Amino acid sequence: MNGDGVNRRSIQWFPGHMAKTLRVMQQEARGVDAVLLLLDARIPHSSLNPELEKIAAAKPRLYVLNKADLADEGLTVRWVRWFCAQGAGCVAISAKQKSGAAAVRRAVDEALAGLMARNAQKGMAGARVRVMVAGIPNVGKSTFINTFAGAARAAAADRPGVTRGRQWIAAGRYDLLDMPGVLWKRFDSLETASNLAFIGSIKDDILDMEELAAGLLEQMRAVYPGRLAARYKLTERQLALPVWELLEAIGRARGMLTRGGGVDAARAAAMLVDEFRASKWGRITLETPPAAEGQGDTGPALPAAGIGAGPDAAQAPETAGRRDGP
Ligand code: G4P
Repeated sequence: MNGDGVNRRSIQWFPGHMAKTLRVMQQEARGVDAVLLLLDARIPHSSLNPELEKIAAAKPRLYVLNKADLADEGLTVRWVRWFCAQGAGCVAISAKQKSGAAAVRRAVDEALAGLMARNAQKGMAGARVRVMVAGIPNVGKSTFINTFAGAARAAAADRPGVTRGRQWIAAGRYDLLDMPGVLWKRFDSLETASNLAFIGSIKDDILDMEELAAGLLEQMRAVYPGRLAARYKLTERQLALPVWELLEAIGRARGMLTRGGGVDAARAAAMLVDEFRASKWGRITLETPPAAEGQGDTGPALPAAGIGAGPDAAQAPETAGRRDGP
């Protein structure tokens, strides 16, 4: 997939409703006590929407690396450390598990302890804490809110200005503001665009699935060649084929043939993307954090939590280096 190609499609993948949502979020952010920025633990950098960072800039915020159950555990530890080393609060969770919500609740409690103490001094102990939940599409916001609110989930009392597309949900002493997932207008790189497409945050129907699958194979072969070879029973020679031929070899091995006997590349591509998303290739993280100065293996104990300033967005991550062998 070509990055310019993706950016040229900006009208489709950055539809008007996302631009509007960003404007609404800007206004709503003024009235919240904190912002939770949900990221995908498999692509923490690519899933960090710079527009959401700007919106959250003036607020205490917590980065939540969701879908940690799908990500490489060692790299998740490094990413949490990296965010923490930037002075940011960060916690890795799986929103599908109750323990994930509990970890975030602890982190939010801790981060907002100052606010609670001030409220108590003003005689407002027990005042509700308003938290905006933001992230890209498909990052797991609804799942997170459902788990976080659990049985206590209820639509919070009507508030002035509440319109369709965003709603308040009462969860214990928190009111969570659920916002629709948003992307941003121009991706900074081909990697970012591709990564977002791999995890399903850009609608497939505006993408060329064969190009997407080829890009995925390229990246997987660079980072986890052993897993790719094992899953599709590839020889070393096949693994080294040009990527389109590799896609064909996989399709042929799976018996995905057209009537004429050629490989049905479209079917093979759809299968590859589906298997990646369904975690059939094992736990995978496609990005490693940038090497931070003075950051060794002695970072904070995990899961780390707290809320602080955001990471330096100008610092690009590396594509994950090769971590297994054929
Ligand atoms: P969104 O509101 O941000 O758009 O995301 P949503 O909660 O709808 O989640 C998108 C998909 O990601 C869902 O899968 C959901 O189950 C899955 N998901 C969310 N959090 C996690 C997590 O921590 N780990 C894993 N493994 N998956 C997670 P789906 O296939 O679209 O729906 P469903 O069939 O699971 O209901």
